[in-house]
Formats: sequence, structure tokens, C-alpha cells
Amino acid sequence: MSSVVIDRADSGQSQPRGERGLRIEPQGVGGYDQTWYPICMSSELEPGRILSVEWMNGRVIAFRDKDGKPHVLSAFCRHLGADLAGGDIVDGTVRCPYHHWRYDTSGQCVATAIDRAPQAAKLFRFPVHEGLGFVWAFNGTEPLFDPPAFELPDSQLTLRARKEMILDCDHYIPFSNSCDIQHLIAVHGMKLEVNPQDLNITPYSIQYIQEQVTPTMGYVRMNVHMIGTNTLHLTGEMMGRMMYLMSTSRSLPGNRTQIYQCAATARRDEPGDEQVAAAMIEQSLQFGRRLMEEDMPILNRISFRQDVLTHSDRVLAMYFDWVRAFPRSSVACEYIAL
Ligand code: FES
Ligand SMILES: [Fe+2]
Repeated sequence: MSSVVIDRADSGQSQPRGERGLRIEPQGVGGYDQTWYPICMSSELEPGRILSVEWMNGRVIAFRDKDGKPHVLSAFCRHLGADLAGGDIVDGTVRCPYHHWRYDTSGQCVATAIDRAPQAAKLFRFPVHEGLGFVWAFNGTEPLFDPPAFELPDSQLTLRARKEMILDCDHYIPFSNSCDIQHLIAVHGMKLEVNPQDLNITPYSIQYIQEQVTPTMGYVRMNVHMIGTNTLHLTGEMMGRMMYLMSTSRSLPGNRTQIYQCAATARRDEPGDEQVAAAMIEQSLQFGRRLMEEDMPILNRISFRQDVLTHSDRVLAMYFDWVRAFPRSSVACEYIAL
């Protein structure tokens, strides 16, 4: 491994450095990354229930309409700011617990207990998608890219979604691990090499093929796909079967990050296949969880800087440049602020 310090031209670093290198502004400065965030697991959002969810600098509510379609709105009533999670679903509207103003699924106030509904009373409504076992919301008024999905539709997959730990750092730090070759080798015991020319980078995604030898699974060839700064898809073959593993995350107030995982494989119409698929899915989820548990004590105490990088950090430097260029939005922040 070379110990040559890469120069700024190599790393794409153009911003002024402090004594300890470059920051990436914390989430919340200039808004939050414009990406799809998992708001809750589909199984958590029971019909008739209003779920309170911490997200970015505040809180939102999630609920299903009469057709079962999920909706995500800012949490605080436009009258006096009561948290609508304490309210009820009444005739398909969200009714505030404080004075019974009612909001439709677009976030518009459509009734009060006494007066005519004020047009100005409108909640922030997020673009929403349901898939891979999660309800997703996009941070913005319109999505900039498609929500995360595996290459097969959910209906053809056996799939498990799981809520994991909360990390005490912003999401772009744990997700940098997918491009952090030194870390994958040193901490996770993998054997691999990735070069800058292997990366396919678009404004909203990074993709490359990773060939590695892991301590627990042996040789693995994986398609590594970052979708936004908070979701990582790994696709690879395990015992003759394509497995899909996703880790994803939601920004929480205080620059913390809620991690989720989902694993899936194609459903096969064979006797006993459900048990086989379930066991392999569990193994994939355990693989992902082990990586996170190895990272957790490190990430919970990190004071992140992009400081002195060396030759094998070239891919990581590209990732950090990509994160810096990623669009942020604060359009919803005032509505959801605590
Ligand atoms: S605070 Fe919601 S109706 Fe008054
Ligand atoms: Fe890691």
C-alpha cells in the first residue's frame, strides 16, 4: 500500500483547508440532502394510525388513506402548532387534537370546528413511495430521481426489512465506507482493490463492481450502488442465487442517523424454497449488521474531516467530492422544525 499523500489536484479538493483538513458541512447547513429517506417500515404503518417520525430538523407524520396509500406531511398544525400525531384520522383527513382542524392528504386544511377552513393553512407534503418494505419520502417538492428499488419488482421477491441502530453522526459518513478501501480492509477484514476508473458516477449515484474476499463469505462479486447519499445497494450471487442487500438511513435531529436494512432474493416456485430464501436473507442481514456493529464505536465518536489522504484513498476522495456537490434543500425545514 502506498503511503504517498495525494495532492489536491488528485483528490479534487479545491476548498480552503484548515489545519485539520476539509469539512463536509453537517446536514442542516444549507438544508438536507435531496434524497429518498426511509420514513418507516411498511409494517409499522397500520391503517387508521398516525405515526410520528423524527426526520431532519424536526418531525413529520405518516398515515395511510382509505386505499392504503401512504402519505407523509409536516407534523405541526398550521393553527397553533399542535403535533398532529396526537390527532385522529377522520373521514380520510387528519384531525388536529387541539381544535379539530382537519387536513386532507395534500396537506390542505379543509375544515375547522367552527370557521371556514383557511386557505393559508397548508402542511408540507412530501413526495412518497412505498417499496422494499419501507415508506419513503423525498426531501423536496419533487423527486430528483427514482426511489431505491432492486432489479426485480417487489412482487417477485422474498424480502425482509429491518430497523437497525441509530448512529451519532451524519449519514454520508457511514455510507462513505462503500468507497473507503482502507477501512474495508483494516476493519472488516476484506481483501479488495478498487480504482477510480472503476467508478460510474452520476449526480445522484455511484456504482462499481467490487470483487472481494470476506472473512465470512469467501469470494464475492458485488455490484455496489449508492443511490443518493443515504442508500447502498449490494447485489451479488450467493450459493447460485442473486441476493439483494440494502442499507439505508434517515437523518434525525441532532445530526444522528437511523439505519435500516432490507435483504431480498427472487421467489422460486419450489417446495421448501421459502425457508431456504429466508435463511439466506437472514445471513445477508447478519452480514450487513456485523459491518455496522464493527463501525458503530468508531462512527459514534468521529469528528469528521477529510484530512490527509493517501494513494488508496483516491476512490474515497471522489466520494467526498460527490457528497459535497449533492443538492440540499431546506424547503421543508421551517414546516417540520421542533
Ligand atoms: S393547533 Fe391544531 S387546530 Fe389548533
Ligand atoms: Fe464499515
